[in-house]
Amino acid sequence: MEKPKAVLFDAYGTLFDVYSVGLLAEQLFPGQGAALGVLWRDKQIEYTRLVTTSDNGLHYRPFWELTRAALRYACKRLALALTPAGEERLMNQYRHLSAFPENKEVLSALKDKGVVTGILSNGDPDMLGVAVRSAGLEGLLDHVLSVDSVRKYKTHPDAYALGPRATGLEARQIAFVSCNAWDALAATWYGYPTLWVNRYQLPFEELDTQPTRTGSSLRDALAFF
Ligand code: LAC
Repeated sequence: MEKPKAVLFDAYGTLFDVYSVGLLAEQLFPGQGAALGVLWRDKQIEYTRLVTTSDNGLHYRPFWELTRAALRYACKRLALALTPAGEERLMNQYRHLSAFPENKEVLSALKDKGVVTGILSNGDPDMLGVAVRSAGLEGLLDHVLSVDSVRKYKTHPDAYALGPRATGLEARQIAFVSCNAWDALAATWYGYPTLWVNRYQLPFEELDTQPTRTGSSLRDALAFF
């Protein structure tokens, strides 16, 4: 395999910890915080697929709006009384998700090696901007690519095509890093060399394709270089 020249990271779940909302969720709904965190995330991703695959994309809405819709659904489903104030607190927490601790060190090491770095995410530009600034990652990323520019969520090929388009490289020259198994799988299908960061000791997808590499933290991205 040729050494990649660039690396693109997924954002939510990969650079930013989507389950860090669990603590506030637990305060608001004792005993249900973790369940709400998981259902909220699953529904959010389901909604991205629903609007991308249905009705020629007519129902596209930015990730922020789908995230709010998913929160409302998850609370109804778990029979949790979500007040407007509670909703704002949870959404605000989502805007300021914790960054995983190794992010900065890994991005700095990649920059030292002259690697082009970026994010390729479902998040809309506003959300990504705030998350990148709160985590202090601005100077370490050459590209912050949002699928909002094509109004199609991953795993649509138009979303993965943003990487080659922005960098001027071919997909096979760009390492793609995600903690989401479905994202690592679809990026592999698209033609990227991939690293699946398996933070939660989960099985990989059972669809007869493996990521190029599997690791347990973002540090494993350095192995490509
Ligand atoms: C993203 C979601 C998939 O950042 O985590 O694209």
